[in-house]
Amino acid sequence: MVDGAAGSADKSVQVKLVLLGEAAVGKSSVVLRFVSNEFQPNKEPTIGAAFLTQKCRLEDRILRYEIWDTAGQERFHSLAPMYYRNAQAAVVVYDVTKASSLEKAKSWVKELQRQANPNIVIALAGNKVDLVQSSALSASPASPPESEDEADDATATPGETQGATEEPESLRQVPREEAQAYATDAGLLFFETSAKTGEGIVEIFTEIAKKIPIEHILAATRGNSARNGASGSRADSTRQQGVNLEENQGQSKDACNC
Ligand code: GTP
Ligand code: MG
Repeated sequence: MVDGAAGSADKSVQVKLVLLGEAAVGKSSVVLRFVSNEFQPNKEPTIGAAFLTQKCRLEDRILRYEIWDTAGQERFHSLAPMYYRNAQAAVVVYDVTKASSLEKAKSWVKELQRQANPNIVIALAGNKVDLVQSSALSASPASPPESEDEADDATATPGETQGATEEPESLRQVPREEAQAYATDAGLLFFETSAKTGEGIVEIFTEIAKKIPIEHILAATRGNSARNGASGSRADSTRQQGVNLEENQGQSKDACNC
């Protein structure tokens, strides 16, 4: 539909984003919640990587996230550089009920800081927070309102999530404060999220969008396509490898709620 050969001629800005993290922390579920406001309780492990897109309105700009959801299983680790190499943003996911997954997240952050684009915006997401919230069963925290369109100028407000109250500490293995302190120290955005309830999901992508140096990307994209007419063909070829959910929801430009 709107996609031009390189996608850079229209006013939307393409932002390549990669998800990294240990297997089964919920990377695919976070993306599924973001792009189609769904949750699958028995989501199968990702093989290789999956490609999805979602638009995100930010003030007068439209960001078009091109999302690479990588596989967390160790046997796929060596593929990761292919996906983060030119990424402008990364979401590194861990599971708040599994301490080892934070250690894995830290090693991904180190790898990104050493080898990815130096300006990459990195967000750390502590997922499955619903499992440590006793009120999660009855509460309905903020989630991406796929069918509502009145929120299109409303930047997601973290304060909207009022469902969280006491936590059954038995399940939590990563204290929020510990992860927050690490994130601050490492210069990362930080969120606790639940792909199941939607808590914190829109916020991640909204805050990343605010931090992305859009002008810089636009200038670089224009420079590249002027210099190299073939740059668009790479994006086209990647599109063929995965599921492009944007095709299914081309009319819901505001689904991102940003
Ligand atoms: P790989 O593709 O193998 O790297 O895993 P992944 O990180 O993509 O995890 P995935 O999204 O496949 O989720 C793994 C399991 O955790 C699935 O059974 C999901 O339903 C479940 N899950 C994901 N996110 C949440 C969450 O926020 N809360 C709860 N309770 N379960 C979740
Ligand atoms: Mg997955």
